[in-house]
Amino acid sequence: MREFDPTSITDAVIDSLSACDDPRFQRIMMSLVTHVHDFVREVKLTEPEWLAAIEFLTDVGRTCTDKRQECVLLSDTLGVSMLVITLNHPAHQGSAESTVMGPFYWQGAPDLPRGSNLAEGVKGEPAFYSGRVLGVDGAPLANAMLDIWSGDGEGNYDMQMPQQTGMKARGRIRTDAAGRYWFRSIRPAFYPVPTDGPVGRMLRKMGRHPYRPGHIHMIVSAAGYLPVTTHLFVAGSDYLDSDAVFGVKKSLIAPYDRHPAGVGPNGEHMDVPYYTVDYDFRLSPERSASPPA
Ligand code: BEZ
Ligand code: FE
Repeated sequence: MREFDPTSITDAVIDSLSACDDPRFQRIMMSLVTHVHDFVREVKLTEPEWLAAIEFLTDVGRTCTDKRQECVLLSDTLGVSMLVITLNHPAHQGSAESTVMGPFYWQGAPDLPRGSNLAEGVKGEPAFYSGRVLGVDGAPLANAMLDIWSGDGEGNYDMQMPQQTGMKARGRIRTDAAGRYWFRSIRPAFYPVPTDGPVGRMLRKMGRHPYRPGHIHMIVSAAGYLPVTTHLFVAGSDYLDSDAVFGVKKSLIAPYDRHPAGVGPNGEHMDVPYYTVDYDFRLSPERSASPPA
């Protein structure tokens, strides 16, 4: 019969993992137990607090549906997602930096010709995006793909609009032989992460706002190169300094240059002011992937 005190119980749980035949899992669980026990001792967690935590996590799980991932939102708002991403995708040799995927990716966006307007019928100020996809050595990558999605100019994604059944502000564009891409969409607005569930309650209790700065998402990929899941953030947007999911990287902030109504970069007459954004993405070759630690 073994009896434990508040310190020896940690060693006992760690010892209980000695027969685990998966060394990586064993290491992760030993470290997790050590940190959780240290945390409980450090804050002297009370039983009502522990029960509240269990109820909160239960609620987070219950809030998940096939359309909503509250567990990921919890990880995002606590900075865990960005920590994992930053550790696993170091930007080396100037490759484009990664940031959160977010909950609004929709697989199967249409393949569209370069120059297409992804945001036909979407609210928002027009923006023309262009640039190149290059290797980190500067070589242009032909036929690279940008899988692009964003909310509208008021911060709403198609998936969030009950009346909206089809895809909006989404599309896949491939680069030409010189690695160039161009397309039209809108200038995205800042918006809140979903706040009507337990994570929203947590943010309010923490005294935090739920907003993300304006951004457009893309997954940039090319054969033989490591794909990058990233955003372009609107330079000057509110909340660049306090993104609710800690996803902003300086290298991903793009100037949106404003132009008066007139002839747009595609030769089309624009009867409202519009923006242009020019941004090159650099990708690392697959063979440069660092081996797991
Ligand atoms: C988003 O960018 O759409 C997003 C990312 C993380 C959490 C919620 C929303
Ligand atoms: Fe987003």
